[in-house]
Amino acid sequence: MWTIPIIHGPNLNLTGAREPSVYGNQTFEHFFEELVIEFPNLKLSHHQSNLEGQLVDWLHFYRNSADAIILNPAAYTHTSIAIRDAVAALKIPVIELHISALHTREDFRKQSLIKELCLFNIQGFGLNGYRMALARLSEFLDADSLIPAYK
Ligand code: DQA
Repeated sequence: MWTIPIIHGPNLNLTGAREPSVYGNQTFEHFFEELVIEFPNLKLSHHQSNLEGQLVDWLHFYRNSADAIILNPAAYTHTSIAIRDAVAALKIPVIELHISALHTREDFRKQSLIKELCLFNIQGFGLNGYRMALARLSEFLDADSLIPAYK
């Protein structure tokens, strides 16, 4: 049973309500219930904060208590050195996840400060991207195919 928290940054609590043409109209809470049913082999949890320091604290907390992390830092993706440093301090795989396709949006969203620290990046598939990330991650963890960086 792999422990995989999903950590969400600012405004993602409004998913389903804000900018539905970009982020869809399903709430994450509702979608998360589907994920829990679809991945009975994973111990999933979901955390959202609008506060940068809280996100850093969760990354520290899961340093020693998770097998991998799915991280969507939202707007902090593009600005937060503190979150980047917290990710760099982890020895477990982190997956960068974005609901929207950043490369098709404003220039300021094209930079990700965490990108090269992550095992892989999924963006532009809506909430389905989380399903894709969990499937890939689950295979990766089951195969024990840890690349040297994570040993
Ligand atoms: C986002 C993309 C970010 O640029 C934006 O600030 C968000 C959500 C996404 O999931 O597509 O809040 O991370």
